[in-house]
Amino acid sequence: NEIRVFAPATVANMICGFDILGFAVDAPGDEVAMYRTTEPGVRIRSIQGDDGRLPLDPDKNTVSACVKMLLQHLGIENEFGVEIELIKHMPIGSGLGSSSASTVAGLFAINNLLGNPLSKEELLPFCVEGERLACGHGHADNVAPALFGGITLIRGYEPLDVIKLPVPNDLYAGVVFPKVDVPTRDARQLIKGKVALKDAVTQWGNIAGLIAGLYESDYDLISRSMKDVLIEPTRAILIPEFYEMKQMAMDLGALSFGISGSGPSVVAITKDESIAKQITEKISAHLTAKEIESLHYVSAV
Ligand code: HSE
Repeated sequence: NEIRVFAPATVANMICGFDILGFAVDAPGDEVAMYRTTEPGVRIRSIQGDDGRLPLDPDKNTVSACVKMLLQHLGIENEFGVEIELIKHMPIGSGLGSSSASTVAGLFAINNLLGNPLSKEELLPFCVEGERLACGHGHADNVAPALFGGITLIRGYEPLDVIKLPVPNDLYAGVVFPKVDVPTRDARQLIKGKVALKDAVTQWGNIAGLIAGLYESDYDLISRSMKDVLIEPTRAILIPEFYEMKQMAMDLGALSFGISGSGPSVVAITKDESIAKQITEKISAHLTAKEIESLHYVSAV
């Protein structure tokens, strides 16, 4: 009658695949503990690690709102009751899929307490609704990898069509979060609704190249392909020292470097774990010298 679930942070977009590609990392991530109660209804018992920023009101908190949605969908909201403890181990508004990790953990937990009536595929649309609540748009490129693990492709949104992609043996992500707040909602409003055909051609060439590179474990092709001409030029403005960090990462041998999700976190993709470590340490030291606090993580993709 109780369960504790961890869901990982995710790097959405994978640099070139805005809203369609994403991967999960080992850490950080969020934890949800859920307890069945005799009284029906969904309540938040406590939230830790959010500096008081997340709402405790079960209709406003995305985790509890999604859990309620699922109970309503199953027609048992007047029979089943739970209390939720949310333990956040990662920063909010960081571009690491913070809301998505909490939502996925919450939905996985309730489904499990109910005896798994829904498959992961069936849980996904509820996770996407959580993203819509959190930032005004139901993108699936954080929730899909948080739920399924590895690298996922959202082949289509209507209906949702998610493809798991192969993960080459040696692929690492060095993530740095410069502590400035960039809410996804704002970072989405900034980008243009229309793109030039020439740029679209470049971008879909890169996406196709990346997918081929993943299937073939062709690191050179992965490196050539993980470039973003559509979104990065606009969003980079919100990230302090973006181009300096990129230069450092590429000089140290990264396969690619770009924005994680909607930022401000940045990600270096490497073939070697030690290079990812060197990059994140060097970038963090650079940010410290500029009086910008940061957190950094290294993980296998
Ligand atoms: N694809 C989304 C975006 C991810 O770039 O806005 C947000 O984490």
